[in-house]
Amino acid sequence: MKDEQDMLILGIETSCDETSAAVVKNGREILSNIVSSQIESHKRFGGVVPEIASRHHVEQITYIFEEALKEAGTELKDIDAIAVTEGPGLVGALLVGVNSAKALAYARDKPLVGVHHIAGHIYANHIVEELTFPLITLIVSGGHTELIYMKDHGSFEVIGETRDDAVGEAYDKVARTLGLPYPGGPHIDRLAHEGEASVKLPRAWLEPDSFDFSFSGLKSSVINTLHNAKQRGEEIPPENIAASFQESVIEVLVGKTMRAVEEKNVDRLLLAGGVAANKGLREALSTACREKGINLTIPPMSLCTDNAAMIAAAGTIFYQQGRRADDRLNGQPGLVLK
Ligand code: KG4
Ligand code: ZN
Repeated sequence: MKDEQDMLILGIETSCDETSAAVVKNGREILSNIVSSQIESHKRFGGVVPEIASRHHVEQITYIFEEALKEAGTELKDIDAIAVTEGPGLVGALLVGVNSAKALAYARDKPLVGVHHIAGHIYANHIVEELTFPLITLIVSGGHTELIYMKDHGSFEVIGETRDDAVGEAYDKVARTLGLPYPGGPHIDRLAHEGEASVKLPRAWLEPDSFDFSFSGLKSSVINTLHNAKQRGEEIPPENIAASFQESVIEVLVGKTMRAVEEKNVDRLLLAGGVAANKGLREALSTACREKGINLTIPPMSLCTDNAAMIAAAGTIFYQQGRRADDRLNGQPGLVLK
């Protein structure tokens, strides 16, 4: 199973509502990637409840990491290092993963590596296709909308980010307004393909040279449009709202991303995060990249949503670069990527 020169990293991820542990060989080969989702527990509240998330993580973490080792056909003694998400995320949720990783590292005298959650999302792509530099990543998830420039492994420059709602958050809020279940992104995506973009909604381009995003104005515009129509006794088909909202989101995401690719003169683009599941976004980015001769990587869904294999993949690079955490490692809800 493990040759002398092989490197096995155990990854742990508990930053939000997925408890996950994974074993990754040599940074790119997944031996196991166990994910326990809590979506069912949070659904009735219409979003993630931090206290419930922490409790679930505590209940699950031991089983999950034991299963990850078992499925990988390995034992803790053969693991070279333990990589764990240290932030950003929900503090109570992060603490469960961080403290479990610290306990394992201490008990077995293993090196410990802290990983930024977004670095993990980026390195999900490294599992699919070896990263080449320079590159740009578009991160789109429930908590993040960021454009990141990388000139080498482990070097992250955030060139654009959301000034208010993350794109997934905007999807979930618009979905809730339309009476759709949580998480609403996939429902809006499905409806959007059934409707017509007939409702006029704004595009938040911000300043001409900015790579930042803003989605709260668009979200408010959807809510106002629905409210005004209701007051007039009219009904706008939900699929047309979904199609119009999605068109606005995609136009801005793809527009800014392609401008960043051009300005930074890169020929490699990565997509990451839960919203990477969006069919419309995948299609639009693929078309734009094909036209411009850009090599686009989009991980499979299992690697787009939160999982520990991506943390182990990033952790492998960090470990090779000599980055080490010690027993002061802590959950950092506002950790900055650098
Ligand atoms: O990356 P992720 O699993 O969790 C975070 O770290 O946030 O992303 C979850 C987000 C949710 O907001 C969900 O509605 C959104 O991804 N999402 C989608 C689609 N599938 C998931 N948004 C738009 N279209 C989809 N097909
Ligand atoms: Zn995430």
